[in-house]
Order: sequence, then C-alpha cells, then structure tokens
Amino acid sequence: MKRVRKKFTIVGNWKMNPDTLEEAKKLFSAVSRKTANNPKVAVVVAPPAPFMLALSGKKTGRKTYRKIRPAAQDVSGETRGAHTGSASARQLRSAGAEYAIVGHSERRAAGDNDQIIAKKITQALDAGLRVILCVGEKERDNHARYLREVREQITGALSSQTKNKIQWVTVAYEPVWEVGRNFDVVLAPALIHEMAIYIKKSVAEIFGKKQALRLPVLYGGSLNSENAENILKDASIDGLLVGRQSLDPDTFGKIIEYANELS
Ligand code: PGA
Repeated sequence: MKRVRKKFTIVGNWKMNPDTLEEAKKLFSAVSRKTANNPKVAVVVAPPAPFMLALSGKKTGRKTYRKIRPAAQDVSGETRGAHTGSASARQLRSAGAEYAIVGHSERRAAGDNDQIIAKKITQALDAGLRVILCVGEKERDNHARYLREVREQITGALSSQTKNKIQWVTVAYEPVWEVGRNFDVVLAPALIHEMAIYIKKSVAEIFGKKQALRLPVLYGGSLNSENAENILKDASIDGLLVGRQSLDPDTFGKIIEYANELS
C-alpha cells in the first residue's frame, strides 16, 4: 500500500443505494469527473458490495474510474468458509476495493461490538485494505461520559493491532446523534477539533505519539455543502465522511471542490 499524501480525504458512503447498477454507474461517473478536476483531494466512494467490481475499474480498466478509491462498506471478521451472506476482505480487495469502512454506527446497531470490529479490522488490514474506523458517542451528556465511550471504542478496535499496521487506519468521528439527522444542527468545528485531538490522544496511549500524530481523523454526520465548507475550513481535520449527500453528485462535487480549494 502506498501512503495517501493528499491534504483532505472526502469519503462518500452510499449505504444501500442506489437500486440498480445503471444508476450506480451514472453516479460514479459524475463523481469521477469531479475527482479528476480536483486532483488535490483523495476521493473515496463506498458503493454497495454487488456493484464493487463494475465500479472499481478493475474489470474495465477505465482510467477515470480509477481516480476514485473504492471502499467496502463493511467486511467479514472471518477469513472464509461457512458464513452465508458475508463478503470477506480478500474478496472485496479482489473486486477492487482499496478501503474498508468498519464500525459504522449502522453496523454497530446491527450487532457489531468491539470484538467483532477488531476482527474485521484485522481481516481488512491483512487483505491489504486501508481501514476507515467509525467511532462516535450515542449522545452527549454533561459529565463527559461521551469521551470515555469514544475512547473505549478506539481501544476496543485498535489495541490488538500492531503499531506497524496502524499507519493504514483512518478514524472517522461520527457522533451517532448526528448521523442521518438535520443538516442545520451540525457540531461546531471547534467541538469537532476537540474530539479529533481526543481521538489522537487515545491512539497515542496505545501506539505512542508518533503514530497518533500521523493518524488521519475525518468527521461525518449530516454533512451538506454548506456545513462541510465550514468544517473543512475551521475544524483542522483531515477530511469528511458524507452519507446522504454523496448520492447527489452536485453537492458531493461541491464538497470535493471546497476541499481542493483549501488544499
Ligand atoms: P449522513 O450519513 O451524512 O447521511 O448523516 C453519514 C454516515 O452515515 O456516514
């Protein structure tokens, strides 16, 4: 794996959308054009697994497609075998994925705990995928318990990994109460920055300061083109993870453009 040396990484998580491969190709092509026109930004798109091979460009060799780095939305915690309905990290890698999102709040809600997430990260890293680990508190309380919650997610997911492999991990801070919510009430950039520092501090406790300083931290949760610009400008983070608005090529394109301008 090569290091990504871009200032910002913009990730689009399509979740279980769109319905057809035709629509997915159209959307991917539109994002490819934006990506080619904004070369200072690393653009990662996580399509549904059944579309991975057709979109990754691995089969077609389409160059524009290859400018986008494809991500799996999840991987199995097992290597292979009797796990009906799952896709392994190696299979996804073989279909062209370069990244894997692990620990998304929607997967956690479906039963992924720290132990499962740690296994998934090991599988992804062993298969040569970069990992985007999602962490985030369920709610904010006045006693800063939410900080402990995030710290435990980091420790649970990462402490069994080796120091060497941690360079392939990005953490996406996604407060659960912000995912899929109102675009008008997004966390202030200063509070996002504060959490990014806290995440790095938690990683430093496990792997040391050097690793922690290199760790890219993204923010995600109810981003649109307006709040994304403020966050990119003022939160001192390494990029964004966009859900719903990554399905709108104009809005997602605008976010990529801002990131390019600010690079
Ligand atoms: P949202 O989703 O942007 O639609 O809130 C973010 C995510 O789930 O990563």
